[in-house]
Amino acid sequence: MDLSDRVVLVTGGSRGIGRASALKLAGLGARVAVNYNQNEEAAAEVVAAATASGTDAIMVRGDVSTREGAEAAVKATVERWNRLDILVNNAGITRDQLIMRLSEDDWDAVLDTNLKGAYLCSKLASRQMLRARWGRIINISSVVGQMGNAGQSNYAAAKAGLLGLTKSLAREFASKNITANAIAPGWIETDIVSGLSDDARKFVLGQIPLGRYGEPDDVAGAVAFLASDAAAYITGQTLNVDGGMVMA
Ligand SMILES: NC(=O)c1ccc[n+]([C@@H]2O[C@H](COP(=O)([O-])OP(=O)(O)OC[C@H]3O[C@@H](n4cnc5c(N)ncnc54)[C@H](OP(=O)(O)O)[C@@H]3O)[C@@H](O)[C@H]2O)c1
Repeated sequence: MDLSDRVVLVTGGSRGIGRASALKLAGLGARVAVNYNQNEEAAAEVVAAATASGTDAIMVRGDVSTREGAEAAVKATVERWNRLDILVNNAGITRDQLIMRLSEDDWDAVLDTNLKGAYLCSKLASRQMLRARWGRIINISSVVGQMGNAGQSNYAAAKAGLLGLTKSLAREFASKNITANAIAPGWIETDIVSGLSDDARKFVLGQIPLGRYGEPDDVAGAVAFLASDAAAYITGQTLNVDGGMVMA
């Protein structure tokens, strides 16, 4: 896979799956904009590692749950390279709580970051893709959006919403040579799952046919594939990267 002509924006590229995806795409030659919200030091480290692999990279602060933040991320990318070919909507948070105790603030924060952020960035980035008549939108959903999960109704709703968004974008943009696909990771070893108790970790492991938690690189490989020319005839799909947890 060769992405050396491509310009990529990875939202939430400072840590975890976003970090691994940014570095994987950079390793394939893409120029990479690493968006982050709070963790400037981590974003700078990703940019340094991407640059060391021989490509150009920038970091862009922007809270993608707001129009201003999403605009800042897309604008900085386009100002630097005058194009935006591949958007990875990865930024995500959890605010877990059973529905009876789930506050409106926690509902809104999760929906705004995970779902509205993808809408905002897709809308802004697609302008550049339409201009180039080539584009890739890759939305990081979750098996939780497919299966539901007690205590994660906000997150499940956002991640299921991303699947509907993906299919609609795929249909809207198909004639313009822009594909939109989703990835549904299972349990991946990142900060987001680091709070699990030992008992919960054991229980989860029992649900994974391949018998291990995923690594951020497992997801990054799928991102690279969907971004590449090898995936030119794939759109509107969800690729599960979950060790076999969900089998359609
Ligand atoms: N880990 C899993 O098991 C798993 C499973 C399924 C799906 N996912 C999804 O995969 C994606 C990445 O998850 P992860 O596990 O890598 O999480 P993570 O390690 O917690 O990293 C989250 C990233 O999102 C960024 N971010 C959070 N809120 C943001 C905002 N408002 N604007 C811009 N960036 C923001 C963070 O940036 P800062 O550090 O700068 O705040 C960070 O780079 C998420 O969408 C998550 O829902 C993860």
